[in-house]
Order: sequence, then structure tokens, then C-alpha cells
Amino acid sequence: MSKLIAIGSDHAGFKLKEYLKKYLESISYEVKDFGTNSENSVDYPDFVHPVARMVENKEIEKGIVICGTGNGVAMTANKHKSVRCALCWNKEIAKFARLHNDANMIALPARFISKCKAKKITKVFLETEFEGGRHINRIEKIAKNI
Ligand code: RB5
Repeated sequence: MSKLIAIGSDHAGFKLKEYLKKYLESISYEVKDFGTNSENSVDYPDFVHPVARMVENKEIEKGIVICGTGNGVAMTANKHKSVRCALCWNKEIAKFARLHNDANMIALPARFISKCKAKKITKVFLETEFEGGRHINRIEKIAKNI
């Protein structure tokens, strides 16, 4: 498994991004941080597209994006081919996002979850394998737009 991961957030997700970055480094991940770098107001797509582009280009296996609700960053990431970004607000959702959807990115709602919950979600996202089987056809159909 690759130990390289990319992360990006807007101002609302900045503090959580910094916290998760430390956590990821503590478990030996090399973190490519695309910003933002303060709580000054910014536009979230500017910090999500670079993360999603790395996943799309298969330069990394997984990415994490964070904004206030998680919705803006998820919508942005899912514009990218072969990106499956799941909005996760608890570890059970994160678990099924990996098991059933083979999510390669997660979107976290910084204004609605604690740091502790975000850490648990991230751990499950990193450690859970895709179940495959009947879910393969389903995720392939996402990209086919039928
Ligand atoms: C910023 O106020 C907020 O709109 C943003 O973080 C995010 O929640 C958008 O989806």
C-alpha cells in the first residue's frame, strides 16, 4: 500500500487539515498538502482540484478534502475522472464507502464533526479494503453515465 497521501481544505477545514496532517505523519504517511494555509477566506475548488488531479492521474491512491460541510469539496472532487469521493461524517459511513464504493477520496465536514471523529474516519478510510464482487459492476457504471 502506498504511504503517500494528498490533502486539501478551505479556511473552514484548515484547522482540521493541520490536525489530520500530524496524525497521518505519525502513522508514517508522506502528506502532500495543497493548502489552504490559514483561516483566511478562500474558494475550496482551488485546494481540491490539485488533490483530485493526483488521484485521477494515479500519482496517489487516496486523498482527503475538507470544508465546512464537506459538500463543496466532494462536489469538486467528483468532477474528476475515476475519483470516487465520499462525504463521511462517521466511521461506519467511511467503512462502507471503502467496502462498497471503493472510495479513493473522502470529504470531511469540519464544522460538524470533532477532531477525534475525523481521525477515526480517516483511520477506517485508510485501513478498509474494497469488497469487490457485485460492487465492481456498480462502481464501473458510475463512470459510464448510463
Ligand atoms: C465556507 O463558509 C463554506 O461554504 C465551505 O467551507 C463549504 O462548507 C462549502 O461547501
